[in-house]
Amino acid sequence: MPSILAQSRPALLALLCFGSALSSAQAPSAFKRPSDAVEYRQAGFELMATHFKRLNDMAQGKVPYDAKAVEENMAVIAVVSKLPFTAFVPGSDKAKGTEALPEVWSQPAKFQEAADKLQAEVGKLQAAVKSGKQEDVKIAAGAVGQSCKACHDNFKQKGH
Ligand code: HEC
Repeated sequence: MPSILAQSRPALLALLCFGSALSSAQAPSAFKRPSDAVEYRQAGFELMATHFKRLNDMAQGKVPYDAKAVEENMAVIAVVSKLPFTAFVPGSDKAKGTEALPEVWSQPAKFQEAADKLQAEVGKLQAAVKSGKQEDVKIAAGAVGQSCKACHDNFKQKGH
């Protein structure tokens, strides 16, 4: 990833750390303590939210549309959107600081479906970004936002 390496932005450096952690994150022993899993998934959501907001603000025309910046944010989202879902491990349901509802563990198929829906919408957003048409990016970003909300409504504590 030479173009990303050339960047010195902290978020992109954080991405590199996340990226190298990706393979080990999928091993069951990846987290020593349940609270480590909570911190990991929350950090992943934070990064995803930060880069999604940057992309979405441009898509919505709140800030001038910069195709290159949209592509950079998209590249980050594509990676970090997968990470939180490697960290909803058994035993982390009651860990300190979590805002996840017990339904994540009691309705795993429904939770997985909501996570898959996000991945599908992120895939469509990637295609729209590639097309370079702001209007398409705007529509696809709206659908991604809906998939965030749909999951939070069922699986995340309110008011956070
Ligand atoms: C399949 C379910 C699901 C989807 C989809 C989802 N989230 Fe979440 N999100 C959660 C859960 C559950 C938590 C609580 C995690 C915890 O505290 O352990 C959370 C937490 C968060 C947090 C708080 C992190 C923190 O620091 O505590 C942010 C921000 C967030 N999500 C943003 C997003 C955005 C933006 C999207 C869409 C691009 C999204 N989420 C999609 C389930 C989801």
